[in-house]
Amino acid sequence: MTKPVVLISEEEIQTRVAELAAQISSDYENLGEIVLVGVLKGAFILLADLSRKLSIPRNIEFIAVSSYGNGSRSSGAVRLVMDVRGNIENKHVIIVEDIVDTGHTLKYLIGMMESHRPASVKTCALVRKAESAEVDVEVDYLGFDIGDEWVVGYGLDYAEKNRTLPYIGVVTPDD
Ligand code: PRP
Repeated sequence: MTKPVVLISEEEIQTRVAELAAQISSDYENLGEIVLVGVLKGAFILLADLSRKLSIPRNIEFIAVSSYGNGSRSSGAVRLVMDVRGNIENKHVIIVEDIVDTGHTLKYLIGMMESHRPASVKTCALVRKAESAEVDVEVDYLGFDIGDEWVVGYGLDYAEKNRTLPYIGVVTPDD
């Protein structure tokens, strides 16, 4: 695999995450404690940075899913591996993702969260591959739209490598 080529710099990411945090803090002001639900594994860095930049009360939860099939794209069949631990009934929930590709995972997760009867469900993602969308799913708080490239860093991996890069980079897989 080639060395990642910078697509979105650390500074650009930090600026955008601060903007998203300010927007969320303003939108949810005086609505009580919100619940940020991070989707493992990829969302852990965005969740850490975003949650620490909010100026409103927040709780942190995690959820884990896996897609059936072994391709690099999700097959559309998503399975819940770990649910939220706390009670989110009547709470304002924001699902936090690193990337939205086909959209299947996020669409499934919105349905999952709604089954817990929260007050509301919104979505946040650092990047979205707009051209790859297979289902219509709203990203309420979006960092960046990107092309159909293999990206790593800031939580995103290729075969578990490069997740902790502070920037988003493009790699060219060997195969
Ligand atoms: C990524 C990402 C989303 C999903 C998006 O997870 O975090 O959950 O793929 O793809 P989709 O829009 O096509 O459904 P991944 O399967 O890479 O798992 P990871 O976060 O544990 O690396």
